[in-house]
Amino acid sequence: MKVKSFRILSGMRPTGPLHLGHLHGVLKNWLTFQEQHECFYFVADWHALTTEYESPQKIKEFVKELFLEWLSVGLSPEKSVLFLQSLVKEHAELSLIFSMITPVAWLERNPTYKDMIQNLQNKDLTTYGFLGYPVLQAADILIYKAEKVPVGLDQVPHLELTREIARRFNFLYGTEFFPEPEALLSEVPKIPGIDGRKMSKSYGNAIFLNDPPEVVRKKVLSYVTDVQRPRKSDPGDPEKRCVAYNLIKFYFSEEEKKEVIEGCKNTQLGCVECKKKLADKIIESLTEIWERRTKIEKEDWEEMLREGVKKARAIAKKTMEEVNALLGFTYKL
Ligand code: TRP
Ligand code: SF4
Repeated sequence: MKVKSFRILSGMRPTGPLHLGHLHGVLKNWLTFQEQHECFYFVADWHALTTEYESPQKIKEFVKELFLEWLSVGLSPEKSVLFLQSLVKEHAELSLIFSMITPVAWLERNPTYKDMIQNLQNKDLTTYGFLGYPVLQAADILIYKAEKVPVGLDQVPHLELTREIARRFNFLYGTEFFPEPEALLSEVPKIPGIDGRKMSKSYGNAIFLNDPPEVVRKKVLSYVTDVQRPRKSDPGDPEKRCVAYNLIKFYFSEEEKKEVIEGCKNTQLGCVECKKKLADKIIESLTEIWERRTKIEKEDWEEMLREGVKKARAIAKKTMEEVNALLGFTYKL
């Protein structure tokens, strides 16, 4: 039975290579959605510019890298509308109009904004563009009248702002023009990094999708294990104390997990052997992605996005015509 289909939209900033955390936490969901819903996925390069304005060249490299990775994990231009934000200029136009009706106080009290300013003290983020980040995001979402937006918890305040902007627009211009989109908070599995903290590029504890197999193996073998098990002869408790086990959970079948727990508790299984098996599994599951990537690298990735950009532009253009009509900005010159 086909469930009700929604228009789903989400974006990613091109600021670095993807790792297993993105794969399990974000992309797997996107892949499921594209089988059932009308999906719009875009690379938010203007949003990257809010923090990386000193190095636009790096953004450009990551744009290509991100699209190659999306295509290699199985996002398909035949199933989803895949595009690049800066190629659909209407996002900027709608963002400008939203900026006129968005009180600065709404933006200043945004917790994500306050956090970022605090955490990235080596960058000057006191710019107009960075403060307006959620306004541009509201435009990204509302220009397609998206209903559901799969995002992480940190983005929930931005979705709330998007709804407030939609309400204000509808109130001011006397219509029910924009729907109020909802955040789609799927259970995000916590993928541990090598050191046990959340996997993240900035912690230097990540396994990247484009790491070669030998690097993946080396990283997996350096995962923290049960600290109360310095020797093989000490019994371990994987579920309570082993970081590597928290990754094993995602890659081993129920039966294999049982074997690990047993072997670890009864000291038959050593950590090196255990992590070697884990490395094999991870490499095996990444192989499909690597193979697809090799094929895609031979094709013209920009060409693969052409249809997506075209579709996005057509919808965005229509929305902007309607918005301008509501404002009376309809000149025949
Ligand atoms: N702000 C999002 C992030 O950092 C990226 C993003 C930009 C986005 N525009 C969007 C996500 C629109 C969902 C919808 O992850
Ligand atoms: Fe963890 Fe495996 Fe070592 Fe047990 S044997 S502590 S599960 S790595």
